[in-house]
Amino acid sequence: MKKPVTVGVIGCGYWGPNLLRNFAENEAARLRWMCDLDPGRLEVLGRRYPSAEPARDYKRLLADPQLDAVVVATPVGTHHTLVKEALQAGKHVLVEKPLTASAREAEELCELAERSGLTLMVDHTFVYTGAVRKIKEIVESGELGELLYFDSTRINLGLFQHDINVVWDLAPHDLSIMDYIIGRRPEAVTATGSCHIERGIENIAYVMLRFADEFIAHFHFNWLAPVKIRRTLIAGSRKMVVYDDIEPTEKVRVYDSGVTASRRPDEQDREAAYRTLVSYRTGDVWVPKLDSTEALHYVCEEFLEAVTKRRRPLTDGASGLRVVRLLEAAQASIKEGGRFVKV
Ligand SMILES: NC(=O)c1ccc[n+]([C@@H]2O[C@H](COP(=O)([O-])OP(=O)(O)OC[C@H]3O[C@@H](n4cnc5c(N)ncnc54)[C@H](O)[C@@H]3O)[C@@H](O)[C@H]2O)c1
Repeated sequence: MKKPVTVGVIGCGYWGPNLLRNFAENEAARLRWMCDLDPGRLEVLGRRYPSAEPARDYKRLLADPQLDAVVVATPVGTHHTLVKEALQAGKHVLVEKPLTASAREAEELCELAERSGLTLMVDHTFVYTGAVRKIKEIVESGELGELLYFDSTRINLGLFQHDINVVWDLAPHDLSIMDYIIGRRPEAVTATGSCHIERGIENIAYVMLRFADEFIAHFHFNWLAPVKIRRTLIAGSRKMVVYDDIEPTEKVRVYDSGVTASRRPDEQDREAAYRTLVSYRTGDVWVPKLDSTEALHYVCEEFLEAVTKRRRPLTDGASGLRVVRLLEAAQASIKEGGRFVKV
């Protein structure tokens, strides 16, 4: 068996413990450090993972020559500094979404990782879910026909963040899902949002992406909704997919529905010459079976394999950068009253 990759997790707040658990359970890894500014978090988690050394100062991890990789699960504003220093110390890095707070920072990290021959991966968790991987398979098979639109809603009575708005908090999920499934790059972003609770921090936002052709993507993000909705529609010219992440089992449904447009000579209006006739098709609904393994299990597996095999991970720095570019463009558009911002 290969030597396990030694891992240290920086940031053990809400999300960090999920990473600690998954790396602790993975036999290709050895959890060597856990780091948090809060000694209370280290004490609680230290009882669960006694073999991991606790540290309040992340520099102790970076100075450890036995440590191969660092996992960064701290607030977004700290990602750039921590990831940069980790890469400079020769560590492979898995960082939480979004990669950084600006595209310029993300570009710098991608270049640094490339130059140093180190793995830089972003935890775009949803890309590793059974549902999203199944949808990708369906889209790639061509079953949906030509793709027409992507429409996503992610709303609930969410945890209000004080350092980032709802777009930076929630959009990395849907943008990374779209980036993976559609595999196309948008040309421009327009967005609008409102701050009802804290000045300058939008708690509701509508984001729209335009592509080179008629394909269009739309997103609704909201921390102030009475119900939790996480639903995405992906329409194709032949079939359509509804992905409902709240559904316990039947998260993905494929509808054999759509319309067919045909042109017929127009008897009444000879000027127009032809009339477009629309016929509707509502056929079967198929519910594919999904892999229900926790997505983070695959995130950790992908990271460890990329490190040991020295290959590019699926959600590499470049995919993190693409998402950050869209976040930045959406933010700029909100500030400028919905102006189309080129990406
Ligand atoms: N992939 C997902 O589905 C998912 C879900 C939630 C959060 N996240 C991401 O995880 C990251 C953390 O979010 P969270 O909700 O866990 O935040 P959090 O505030 O609950 O936890 C962050 C922790 O980092 C610690 N910390 C901050 N600066 C540090 C430093 N310099 N050194 C050591 N520890 C430090 C804090 O003490 C805190 O315990 C964010 O990037 C967020 O976007 C991802």
